Amino acid sequence: MTEDVVLAGQRFANRVFAAAGCAGTGRELPAQANLAGLGAVITRSITPEARAGLAAPRIAETPSGLINALGLPGPGIEGFLADELPWLVDHGAAVIVSIAAEQAADYARLAQRLRQVEGVIAVEINLSNPVTESGRLPAAMDAGLAGGIVHAVRRNTAAGTPVFAKLSGDTTDIVSVARACVGAGADGVSLINAVRGMGIDAATGKPALGAWTGGLSGPAIKPIALRAVWEVHAALPDLPIIASGGVRTGTDAAEMMMAGASAVSVGTALLSDPTAGIRVREELAGIAARREGGLQGLLGCAHQEVTA
Ligand SMILES: Cc1cc2nc3c(=O)[nH]c(=O)nc-3n(C[C@H](O)[C@H](O)[C@H](O)COP(=O)(O)O)c2cc1C
Repeated sequence: MTEDVVLAGQRFANRVFAAAGCAGTGRELPAQANLAGLGAVITRSITPEARAGLAAPRIAETPSGLINALGLPGPGIEGFLADELPWLVDHGAAVIVSIAAEQAADYARLAQRLRQVEGVIAVEINLSNPVTESGRLPAAMDAGLAGGIVHAVRRNTAAGTPVFAKLSGDTTDIVSVARACVGAGADGVSLINAVRGMGIDAATGKPALGAWTGGLSGPAIKPIALRAVWEVHAALPDLPIIASGGVRTGTDAAEMMMAGASAVSVGTALLSDPTAGIRVREELAGIAARREGGLQGLLGCAHQEVTA
């Protein structure tokens, strides 16, 4: 059975991706991670300038997940294009570049710069970083702000390159934000980023993260992600959705697709098991093969059962 799929006009080899920031630069992962075997690798969010990131500790464990406040460390767009993107492309990865900035004009410049390079199959706009250095809430909390950024990126991106808006599970009304992004030209959405949270170190009585608050990811947020996917798919059934939030197994991926996802991305699970993406892909293929109607029959099927 063929696993390939066309989303927003772009062909992907399969529906299991590496989530933004969770495959590092790619180089850190062992060969068994087989990035070329994933439908896509979504890069860490690339910023206009190089960034050192936030104060340590940047990651802390919690029951059923972890919290992180990395602060988008990285080499900036020029360093990424000179060093990280060529490595990923040479190793056979289908690369979706995640971009992050403070202002719509900076997002536009990032998009414009990416337009001139080979090997970028889609752009993901990170509108939902749970911690910003300015302390401002992520743009995804505000439909108008999110739409303005999407518009700026879309008009600076080549027509054949899909643009996905990455939204936040913290948003009260995620459907309104998704609608604003689609109205501004997004070809799909990625749901969800890590959810805002924090930990306290009982021994010191201090926050567990250097930035105090961070983003909660892993199995703990899967129900939040499922709900977001469910709501957006119900409102916008034709919109491609890349689902992330606690996907560790083929069953998790299948559940996301039943809720309405077109693809999934594996995040936190890759940190402890770099082969998790390939394993999820294989398990999902097994689940689809055993079901009547195959993978196609999974897509959005939870909605049919509710309305039947
Ligand atoms: C260590 C780490 C780094 C991350 N970096 C980014 C990033 O650069 N850009 C982004 O949009 N999301 C980033 N994320 C969020 C993930 O892409 C993903 O959406 C989220 O963690 C939920 O999926 P998960 O539960 O499978 O991890 C990061 C998550 C983690 C744990």
